Amino acid sequence: MSVMETLNTRRTYRRFTQKPVPQDVVDDMVEALRLSSCGANRQAVKLVVVQGPEMVAKVHPLVKWAAYLPPEQGAPKADEQPVMYLAVVQDSSIPGDLNTDTGIALANITLAAWAKGVGSCIMGAINKPALSELLGIAAPDKLAFMVALGCPTHAARVVPMTEKTGIKYYLDENGDYCVPKRSVEELARSV
Ligand SMILES: Cc1cc2nc3c(=O)[nH]c(=O)nc-3n(C[C@H](O)[C@H](O)[C@H](O)COP(=O)(O)O)c2cc1C
Repeated sequence: MSVMETLNTRRTYRRFTQKPVPQDVVDDMVEALRLSSCGANRQAVKLVVVQGPEMVAKVHPLVKWAAYLPPEQGAPKADEQPVMYLAVVQDSSIPGDLNTDTGIALANITLAAWAKGVGSCIMGAINKPALSELLGIAAPDKLAFMVALGCPTHAARVVPMTEKTGIKYYLDENGDYCVPKRSVEELARSV
């Protein structure tokens, strides 16, 4: 896959097979974090890898899925849940623009996974106090995001944003995600 193909198909996935994520993909995601650009090369973003099935099951009720869809459409059913999570953590004892560093890391991690067919959902609607307690994340470390991972059982594609679609993603008749994106003309101009 070319970089542009990878960017085009690296969408958000929310339903998964129950096959474990191969260890080489886990290793690639950690390496993708390690290689990420960050302000002043301070490297304040870290990961907690959540792979054990019991721990993964404890995370499921602490994340929220697909705010634009009713839960019966947007939330994975019991046999569609992610098979692993990454907790993305910021070391707040290190100064800098940690949110920008985190965004770059999230992009790199999810691209590394998708390059090997593992789909992801970056999750900001999470129960941070409960997850921090569960995963042993304590100051100066701060939980920023969870990333849900697994091999997707649905497709997802970009569609043109129109007056009718607005920005909200929706499912087509096959249950595949359609993600409206603004036009190039709307997003970029030359001077
Ligand atoms: C910062 C951030 C937070 C997000 N939080 C959630 C979330 O809590 N739950 C969820 O189901 N999706 C979440 N998403 C996924 C977005 O809904 C998704 O990226 C967006 O609809 C565009 O779809 P795309 O990733 O396929 O382009 C989040 C994405 C980002 C970048």
